[in-house]
Amino acid sequence: MHIARTLPELREFLGRYSRPAFVPTMGNLHEGHLALVQQAKPLGDVTVASIFVNRLQFLPHEDFDTYPRTWDGDCEKLRSVGCDLLFAPDEKTLYPEPQTCKVHPDPALADILEGHFRPGFFVGVCTVVMKLFGCVQPRFAMFGKKDYQQLMTIRHMVRQFALPIEIVGSETRRAEDGLALSSRNGYLSEAERAEAVQLSKALRAMADAVRSGERDLAAIEARAMRSLEERGWKPDYMVLRRRADLQAPAAGEPLVALAAARLGKTRLIDNLEIDA
Ligand code: PAJ
Repeated sequence: MHIARTLPELREFLGRYSRPAFVPTMGNLHEGHLALVQQAKPLGDVTVASIFVNRLQFLPHEDFDTYPRTWDGDCEKLRSVGCDLLFAPDEKTLYPEPQTCKVHPDPALADILEGHFRPGFFVGVCTVVMKLFGCVQPRFAMFGKKDYQQLMTIRHMVRQFALPIEIVGSETRRAEDGLALSSRNGYLSEAERAEAVQLSKALRAMADAVRSGERDLAAIEARAMRSLEERGWKPDYMVLRRRADLQAPAAGEPLVALAAARLGKTRLIDNLEIDA
């Protein structure tokens, strides 16, 4: 696997290829990330991953400084799945001057849910993803459904700016007990890790209620909030939205259940598409 730290290095390597398949990450890689790389491999003529912990998408009180940085292990894992190129710029390379030109995604999509509880988050995400797209110039880019709203926001950005990139969404990879894999799971104590499965269980209970024909979505949401609160969680939201745009659904529309909740100091998110 080739490693490029600078733009000239990146461009020199990519000059030989015309259809890069790209997996942007913030590192601390797990099976979910690696599955994206494996899915990228057959799509393009070269498989590119990036590792960059993007300061722009963290609020001042969030975990930018302590976000896990596990360089050697990450390189090892990317090699093991046959990644061809790792782009790993430092902050000065990606942001040589203050990034005052930013991408402001559609507020209807990006100011709700995660964007409501983490103001500016999707501006930071879209700005860095646009910039990484400019650097790598991929033909395909892979994103996990684990970050459902992020995937939708990026799809919308790519469509609105007519970027010649196909966005490929990938299913959420889970631990055996159902907990969605996440770099932030490493923050959990042993007891919290055992409890963390309750988030995906609460989503499944919401999905079961919908599938069993329960119509009062607000009641299902309130029950999910309460079930976690009673166990000591601090949920930000437990909601049922329509898949098309994450707005409140009308009867019969395909749904997704979305959750964000704090367990101790760790904030976890997850979601589940609900098939009728
Ligand atoms: P990061 O959290 O490192 O995630 C990188 C990619 O891996 C994202 O597309 C995310 O949805 C996907 N991913 C994470 N956990 C997953 C899981 N359990 N199953 C499947 N896919 C999973 O998301 C980001 O980084 C950043 O916001 C980024 C897009 C890189 C911009 O900075």
